[in-house]
Amino acid sequence: MSSTLIASNRGPVSFTLSEDGALTMRRGGGGLVSGLSGVAKESELLWVCAALSDGDRSAVRLAPGGRLDEAGYPTGPLRMLDIPPAVFHRAYNAVANSTLWFVHHLLYNTPFAPHFDTRFRREWEAYQDYNGVFALALAEEAGHGARVMVQDYHLTLAPAMLRVDRPDLRISHFSHTPWAPPEYFSVLPDEVAAEVLEGVLGADHAGFLTERWADAFMDCCRVILGATVDRDSRTVGYQGRTTRVGVHALGVDGSTLRARAAEPDVESYLQTIKEQVGPRRLIVRIDRTELSKNIVRGMMAYREFLAEHPEWHGKVVHLAFAYPSRHDLPEYREYTAAVQRCAKEIEDEYATDDWDPLILYTDDDYPRSLAAYRLADVLLVNPTRDGMNLVAKEGPVLSQRCVLVLSREAGAAAELGENALVVNPYDVSGTATALHDALTMPEEEREARIARLRAAATALPPGRWLSDQLEALSQP
Ligand code: G6P
Repeated sequence: MSSTLIASNRGPVSFTLSEDGALTMRRGGGGLVSGLSGVAKESELLWVCAALSDGDRSAVRLAPGGRLDEAGYPTGPLRMLDIPPAVFHRAYNAVANSTLWFVHHLLYNTPFAPHFDTRFRREWEAYQDYNGVFALALAEEAGHGARVMVQDYHLTLAPAMLRVDRPDLRISHFSHTPWAPPEYFSVLPDEVAAEVLEGVLGADHAGFLTERWADAFMDCCRVILGATVDRDSRTVGYQGRTTRVGVHALGVDGSTLRARAAEPDVESYLQTIKEQVGPRRLIVRIDRTELSKNIVRGMMAYREFLAEHPEWHGKVVHLAFAYPSRHDLPEYREYTAAVQRCAKEIEDEYATDDWDPLILYTDDDYPRSLAAYRLADVLLVNPTRDGMNLVAKEGPVLSQRCVLVLSREAGAAAELGENALVVNPYDVSGTATALHDALTMPEEEREARIARLRAAATALPPGRWLSDQLEALSQP
């Protein structure tokens, strides 16, 4: 029995199965996992996650009770849930990623989508089942009065489900995404919108990365459920219970990140990138190939910058890392193709025998990303909407001189905006101007800004995030 538990769809590790049946373990990706892996392992809390792939399922099936640590993997306490693939795919792809993610990131092309038909109702049932499997596992693993931290939009129903079985537990829910304003959240079918909100309100504490997302959640509770909301004390009263709403930004553990970025694999990429770029200035971006990351407009801004500033031809390189993500969804495959097309158009228009204006990588490589951060003169982070964005925080920790061009719609803008060049992510020309301003910023100003960015980025490391969450749960 554990006294502290964390639950999330993606776990700290994933497995791949090679043709000869051998399993290889690697670190999981994305903001939630990058932020929390280190601290979870150190603090010995039990992590409950879903098996996402065939590799994961094979590993789980060989582990007693799904406990990978007990099967000898160096993961820290970890239970992986072998949810039936059909249920998992509907819950993860159709509901979590194609619906809730789209809602919170305002991604729908509304003349055509969404449409919630009987098929969606079936998918919703799978999402309920998936949340039920988590609630059951947590109820099994949690000791009396344990603290359970449920993470993200995949698991909005689990807090309320768990409370029914185990009223003794202290439960929190944390959203690593933005939250949609009520007029957009209410595109969801009424009963689904209510169930999501009621699910989260099953927790004692509902956490968000910024005030803006917390306010949006409270607005949804008031408008859609008719709950009693006190914005000042950040409480939501509903059906005789009160849920506290908290704002907990998530930052970077500077020393761990710096130590990792000094390892030999990163050093060797430093040499490779230096050879590719030569004496030119370097604009870097690092993202999952995610619709909300706004990679295409970022490239269009770079293209406009090149068109407006021929004096920079041959003197700058844009290194864009767009790592694979959610390829089961057609929108993501199309988006990846659009990113590749856009990169090729820029190459065709501007490349010369001795100058590659844009280098795009679409394969995931963590040490190469760390090397790019270290060499960046400009870091472009321009999502149309983002819960936090850890790239904006990692860059300044590793680079000596990079200027951050940052979207005002990223949660990170609340902490970093003052020392970044803040852009409207839809304004391609405005972003092009910001790229030029960043490249031409005097050295002294760069250094002053980056020192302040670094301080802000490391002010709330994951360890602090975790202890704040736990403390919030210990309050009466
Ligand atoms: C965001 C979400 C995480 C998710 C990550 C990667 O950071 O908040 O919950 O794990 O994206 O997405 P994926 O679908 O690959 O898990």
